[in-house]
Amino acid sequence: MDILRVARVIASCRFLVALTGAGISADSGIPTFRGDDGLWKRFRPEELATPEAFTRNPTLVWEWYRWRMSIVFRAKPNDGHRALAELESMGILRCVITQNVDGLHQLAGSRCVVELHGSIRRVRCTSCSYREELVEPPTEIPPRCPRCGALLRPDVVWFGEPLPSDAWNKAVELCSKADAILVVGTSGVVMPAASLPYLVKSHGGIVIEVNVKPSALTSVADVFLQGRAAEVLPKIVEEVKRFVTK
Ligand code: OAD
Repeated sequence: MDILRVARVIASCRFLVALTGAGISADSGIPTFRGDDGLWKRFRPEELATPEAFTRNPTLVWEWYRWRMSIVFRAKPNDGHRALAELESMGILRCVITQNVDGLHQLAGSRCVVELHGSIRRVRCTSCSYREELVEPPTEIPPRCPRCGALLRPDVVWFGEPLPSDAWNKAVELCSKADAILVVGTSGVVMPAASLPYLVKSHGGIVIEVNVKPSALTSVADVFLQGRAAEVLPKIVEEVKRFVTK
């Protein structure tokens, strides 16, 4: 019943955006951060995902990122990513704002994707402006800049670092215009990303959440759909199609 309600809202809204987190990629085999077997249960973020950790031990940090890259490069988008791409091609979803660094939304066909936390498929130089898109994890650890010889780092946001300002400004602009936001697979505890549903809500927009369990954002959600993104999102799209073709 709630799926029908959500489909009706989505089919009639003017400017829908999505905010996604690690949960949408869980069915593609990419570990989440805070689940029972999440990355932050097995590893300490301050040892692996901070600028200080990288300065202290770049090889250790790179070993961890090489392992995560090897998972991401093997992963394929799932039905959840594909459902959001389809909603965009139907002209309903304006953009996906994601905290994920795996690039699976783009591989599923989403054209407008705002990457708030960067991309694990890209490296950048710690000294000059060199950037490179990767097709596989680096073989030599830690990799060095071919232009200036300084260390390369994954082009992701670490704890204590600001978000890329262009991505953040675009996310705020989108959420300021949105009359609905679909929040998918995020625990909603990492700022500033977690503030975006509140921004939509603050000017009367509707917050729809899809998650396997309640999150820190469930209290702001107008509708909470419990289930896996790869199951729930395609069902929503099927129902939206029925409303749109009526
Ligand atoms: P989390 O690991 O914190 O949360 C994942 C969420 O997905 C949880 O709420 C799960 O209940 C939910 N979930 C798991 N499987 C799901 C499925 N199949 N379908 C739907 N929901 C599912 O991941 P994020 O919220 O993305 O930041 O974490 C936010 C940020 O914290 C990450 O971007 C990363 C991390 O530290 C940086 O690295 C800067």
